[in-house]
Amino acid sequence: MQEHQLVDPYKRHLNYLRISITDRCNLRCVYCNPRSSKQKLRHKDVLRYEEILRLARIGVSLGINKIRVTGGEPLVRKGCCDFLEHLAAIDGLKDISLTTNGVLLKQNIDKIASAGVKRLNISLDTLNPEKYQQITGHDVFKQVWEGIELALQKGFDPIKLNVVAINGVNDDELIQLAELSFKYPFHIRFIELMPIGTTSAPVANPLLIPEIKKKIQILGDLIPIQKDINDGPAKRYKFKDAMGEIGFISPVSKHFCKGCNRLRLTADGHILTCLLSDICEDIKSPLRLGLLDNDLKTVFLKAVARKPFQHPENLTLLAQPEQMVSIGG
Ligand code: 5AD
Ligand code: SF4
Repeated sequence: MQEHQLVDPYKRHLNYLRISITDRCNLRCVYCNPRSSKQKLRHKDVLRYEEILRLARIGVSLGINKIRVTGGEPLVRKGCCDFLEHLAAIDGLKDISLTTNGVLLKQNIDKIASAGVKRLNISLDTLNPEKYQQITGHDVFKQVWEGIELALQKGFDPIKLNVVAINGVNDDELIQLAELSFKYPFHIRFIELMPIGTTSAPVANPLLIPEIKKKIQILGDLIPIQKDINDGPAKRYKFKDAMGEIGFISPVSKHFCKGCNRLRLTADGHILTCLLSDICEDIKSPLRLGLLDNDLKTVFLKAVARKPFQHPENLTLLAQPEQMVSIGG
């Protein structure tokens, strides 16, 4: 029986859990996992799949009905697809989705599909293979693009392409990226660069959504799409006669926290209630001490009770303790 107990002090119902299954990644994106990245988690500090599944079940019993699996790069962790299958089998879960950089998509696509995942978010900041290498440190654009095309053929829906917009890096490609939504049913999502962790991307002169919107409107009027409960912080639009959509995520220029319905479980077993705050609850220690489900529920509730209303006003001045690679976006 599902209860709805995950209500924070601001009356937000938290029904969405993002689970990072690893802090490792096979790319080194400038905005997330730069070369100087700190030491990776030790194997024993990373939650085992059985542990994650137990916590996921407890989350679902408290009212979580939507789970996204992230990393680092989730597909670099051995057994990810089997894990997805077990996750999908949890009674009461309506939706599981996967965020990936797409590098390992081709060889895993059938297993991801048969595990029951339908929704994919794939990072794609450029359509230029050389620039892709500059941003990610690896010459794998072709592989990623083929993975995206295969995902389309296999019927994944929606396929969201995440574009982190960075001045001097991909500001000259925004129109081309937005144009993809005419030819493909992709949701192209422009995301403001968050000055988080030890990012080596240029954060001083941020490219903000109002400017991006203005630039891509050369392609036509952006028609707003009615909000759906699955939208999260994205504002959705569509060009007339386009197959796909355009989404905007503005962590810097606009607070989107008011309607935040998320909790995060980090790879090292902490419940995080806000991406941009270091408030968290350690759930791994009580789990490994052998606490019962009811006590672990209490840890969830404690985390929820401490969820901040919003992240600090001036993000550009924020010195973030964490890198995105260890929280999973
Ligand atoms: N700013 C904005 N988005 C980021 N992501 C990672 N790091 C950042 C950052 N510093 C997003 C990317 C990626 C997803 C996993 O997290 O869109 O697709
Ligand atoms: Fe929610 Fe924190 Fe993100 Fe705001 S910054 S939307 S509170 S997770």
